[in-house]
Amino acid sequence: MSDLIPTPVLCTRRLILEPLCVADADRYQALFNDWEVVRYLTHLVPWPYPEGEALRHIREDALPAMADGEEWHWTLRLRANPELMIGVICVMDEPDNQRGFWIAPPWQGQGLMSEACAVVTRFWFETLGQPSLRVAKAAVNEASRRLSTREGMRMVDSRPDEFVCGQLVEEIWEMTREEWRLRNR
Ligand SMILES: CC(C)(COP(=O)(O)OP(=O)(O)OC[C@H]1O[C@@H](n2cnc3c(N)ncnc32)[C@H](O)[C@@H]1OP(=O)(O)O)[C@@H](O)C(=O)NCCC(=O)NCCS
Repeated sequence: MSDLIPTPVLCTRRLILEPLCVADADRYQALFNDWEVVRYLTHLVPWPYPEGEALRHIREDALPAMADGEEWHWTLRLRANPELMIGVICVMDEPDNQRGFWIAPPWQGQGLMSEACAVVTRFWFETLGQPSLRVAKAAVNEASRRLSTREGMRMVDSRPDEFVCGQLVEEIWEMTREEWRLRNR
């Protein structure tokens, strides 16, 4: 369905989204090694975050999946300072967990991830032609819930799951392509 579509550069009013690459590893390691960033992510994220883990993740997880047309990963950069990555967003051809994102605390709460989600979700539905978008999040992750609510997503399931900070309720949120189109004509 969506194989071999490369990860394009995407732009929003304030952001440039560039495909993740090995050169991002040092900055990724520095920003991601932060409790505020990782606490509500899946327990599959190792914590304490090992030295060199960002480079391993980019090389062994992200880049092969991008090359296989199964995942699309971008770094977020401000148009005003494009040298500096400030966060990451990705979409994945995976049940119940099709979009992930994080942005470092100094840039949170400014509507930046909402901007990134708008172009990446458009890519998911219009370029990849996916019929629906399903995302997983900790129920206590208020910023993530509000972002999905604002996009028009619905909570469709919840269950206990393991996060970096321990066991929490995990919620699955969904939006179909038709629902997205009605809001984004
Ligand atoms: C979740 C996250 C990506 C949101 O990014 P952001 O750029 O701060 O989000 P936005 O500024 O676009 O805000 C989205 C909504 O969350 C709200 N919000 C932002 N920070 C918040 C906070 N700390 N507490 C509660 N709500 C918050 C905003 O007010 C906005 O709601 P609104 O649309 O109703 O006004 C960011 O908080 C983050 O990186 N968290 C750590 C990693 C993470 O949890 N990733 C998601 C895993 S599911």
